[in-house]
Amino acid sequence: MTIPVKQIYPRTGDKETIYLKHVITNPNITVGDFTMYNDFVNDPALFEKNNVLYHYPINHDKLRIGKFCSIACGAKFLFNSANHTLSSLSTYPFPLFFEEWGLEKKDVTKAWDHKGDIIIGNDVWIGYEAVILAGVTIGDGAIIGTRAVVTKDVPPYTIAGGVPAKPIKRRFPEEIISALLEIQWWNWSEERIARNIGAIQSGNIEQLKQSM
Ligand SMILES: CC(C)(COP(=O)(O)OP(=O)(O)OC[C@H]1O[C@@H](n2cnc3c(N)ncnc32)[C@H](O)[C@@H]1OP(=O)(O)O)[C@@H](O)C(=O)NCCC(=O)NCCS
Repeated sequence: MTIPVKQIYPRTGDKETIYLKHVITNPNITVGDFTMYNDFVNDPALFEKNNVLYHYPINHDKLRIGKFCSIACGAKFLFNSANHTLSSLSTYPFPLFFEEWGLEKKDVTKAWDHKGDIIIGNDVWIGYEAVILAGVTIGDGAIIGTRAVVTKDVPPYTIAGGVPAKPIKRRFPEEIISALLEIQWWNWSEERIARNIGAIQSGNIEQLKQSM
C-alpha cells in the first residue's frame, strides 16, 4: 500500500492542502506525520510566516503539533513576543527601542511576558481562523471551534469554542476517551491504521482495542 505521506501535496490537483511537516524549516517548530493544513487564501506552504506569529528566535519558544491534526485556513499561533509586558507601568515596548532610550540590547526580551510553548496533541481539529495563544496545551482529540481564541489548556477529546474559548462538551463518554488515549492509534504503523480505518470511522472502539 502506498500512502503519500512524504509528499507536500497529498491530494492530486489540490495545492491548497498540504502535509504540514514538509514545509517546516524552523527548528523550534515540529509537526507530526499526516497533520494537514488547508489554506484557500494564502499559499499554505507559507504557514510559518502567515500562521506562526510573534515567534522570534531570541525567545526559543516551541510549537509542537502532533500527528493527524487538521488545521483549518487562517488558524494562528500567537507567541510570546505578542505579549507586551504587563509588569511595566506602560505597555510601550521600551526594551525593543534600546538604542533610542540607552537601554541594554541584552534586555530586549523584557519587552514581553513569557507564557511558554504551544503544544498541540494528536488528532486535534483546529477550526477556521482560530487563535491559539502562547503557553496553551491542547490535548489529543480536541476540537477548537471556528474563530475561538484559546487562552487556556483544552483537555483531550474536548470541544472548545468562543472568546475566550471555553469547553463546550466532551466528545465521548469517559470510558471511550480513556480507551482512545490508551490505544493511541495515531502511533500505529500506516498498515495497521489502514486496516482499522473502518473501525475508527464507525466508532467501533472494541475493534480498535483488539486490533493487532
Ligand atoms: C465547534 C464545532 C465543531 C461544534 O460543533 P457541534 O458539536 O456540532 O456543536 P453545536 O452546533 O451542537 O453547538 C453546541 C454549542 O456550542 C456553540 N458553538 C458551536 N460552535 C461554536 C464556536 N465556533 N464558537 C463558540 N461557540 C460555538 C453553539 O452555539 C452551541 O451552544 P449552546 O449549547 O449554548 O446552544 C463547530 O461549531 C465548529 O466551530 N466547527 C469548526 C468548523 C471549521 O472551522 N471548519 C474549517 C474547515 S476544516
